[in-house]
Parts: sequence; structure tokens; C-alpha cells
Amino acid sequence: MTSDQDVVVREIEFGSREYEAELKLRQDVLRTPLGLVLGGKDIATDDVELHLGAFLGSRLVGVVMMRLVSADQVQMRQVAVDPTVHGRGIGRALVDAFEDAAREEGATEIIMDARVTAQPFYAKLGYETLGEAFILSTIPHVKMRKSI
Ligand SMILES: CC(C)(COP(=O)(O)OP(=O)(O)OC[C@H]1O[C@@H](n2cnc3c(N)ncnc32)[C@H](O)[C@@H]1OP(=O)(O)O)[C@@H](O)C(=O)NCCC(=O)NCCS
Repeated sequence: MTSDQDVVVREIEFGSREYEAELKLRQDVLRTPLGLVLGGKDIATDDVELHLGAFLGSRLVGVVMMRLVSADQVQMRQVAVDPTVHGRGIGRALVDAFEDAAREEGATEIIMDARVTAQPFYAKLGYETLGEAFILSTIPHVKMRKSI
């Protein structure tokens, strides 16, 4: 049986009520702390991307999105976990589910632009850093990758 405290990662359908909750989480976790508004390039391709949500019961507490880059490469983006449940393995569960979904797509490589503040989190999960830091959405990022 699943308790309210067990995290379940599953797909969120674009345009659904859960997608509206996802937009709020992305705004609250990824944009509000930077004084920015989610929009433009953040959401332009939402309709064609895979959305995975982490749920505690019916409560959405995390999100990750997948963009198809080429036949064998996908991009991980918009990784966000509700700060009230950080450090409980939800980010790891999202990345694990993302990697499973990427393999199902036939991908052999995951790429991303990672916040420097989150770099150690991804490194722990086997992602390597490529090149120097650069500014994206006003803060330092690095390119990271993993073969799957
Ligand atoms: C980065 C983030 C997704 C991690 O989610 P989380 O649910 O707190 O992570 P987990 O609990 O699954 O952590 C997995 C491991 O990584 C470690 N970890 C998590 N965030 C870390 C960080 N910023 N720096 C160093 N280690 C970190 C955890 O301690 C844990 O280690 P352990 O397995 O040895 O105990 C989350 O902090 C977040 O949403 N941050 C704000 C938005 C953000 O930066 N998103 C990423 C954009 S690229």
C-alpha cells in the first residue's frame, strides 16, 4: 500500500489541472527566488515535452521535463522540488524516473544546463561537468551530461 509519504513519480499531461500545479511549482521554485516570471522560452515547448511529477499522495512536490534533442540525446530541464521536502530523496527519484523514460525513448545521453548550486546533486547521480560556468536566467550554470 502507498502511504502519503511515499513519493510516486508519474507523467503529467500537458494542459491538465496537474500541469497548472506544475507551472505554479516551477514559478515558485525556479523563478520567484530570482525575481523572474515563468514564460517565453521556459514554456514555449511545454506542449511537446515529457513532464514527470513527483507526488506525495495527491500533492505535487517535484517536477522534471524532457526535451528530445536528437535520436539519441535528451535534455533534462526545469528540475524543481518543493523546498519544504528537500533532502528526502525526491530529486533523486525524479532523476531516476527521467533516466528510465529517456532509455524508453531510445536515448543514450542526457544533457542539461545545471545551476552551479545544484551541480553537486547531479554529480552524486553520475553527471559530469563540461566546460566553464556561464550565466543563464541571471545565475551561473554549467553544462552537464551522463551516458545512460
Ligand atoms: C536540486 C534539487 C532538485 C535537489 O532535490 P532534493 O529532493 O532536495 O534532492 P535529494 O534529497 O534527492 O538528494 C539526493 C542527494 O543529493 C544531495 N543534494 C541535494 N541537493 C544538493 C545540493 N544542492 N548540493 C549538494 N548535495 C545535494 C542530497 O544530500 C542527497 O545526498 P545523499 O544521497 O548522500 O543523502 C532541489 O534542491 C531543488 O529543487 N533546488 C532548487 C531548484 C534547483 O536548483 N533546481 C535544479 C536546477 S538545474
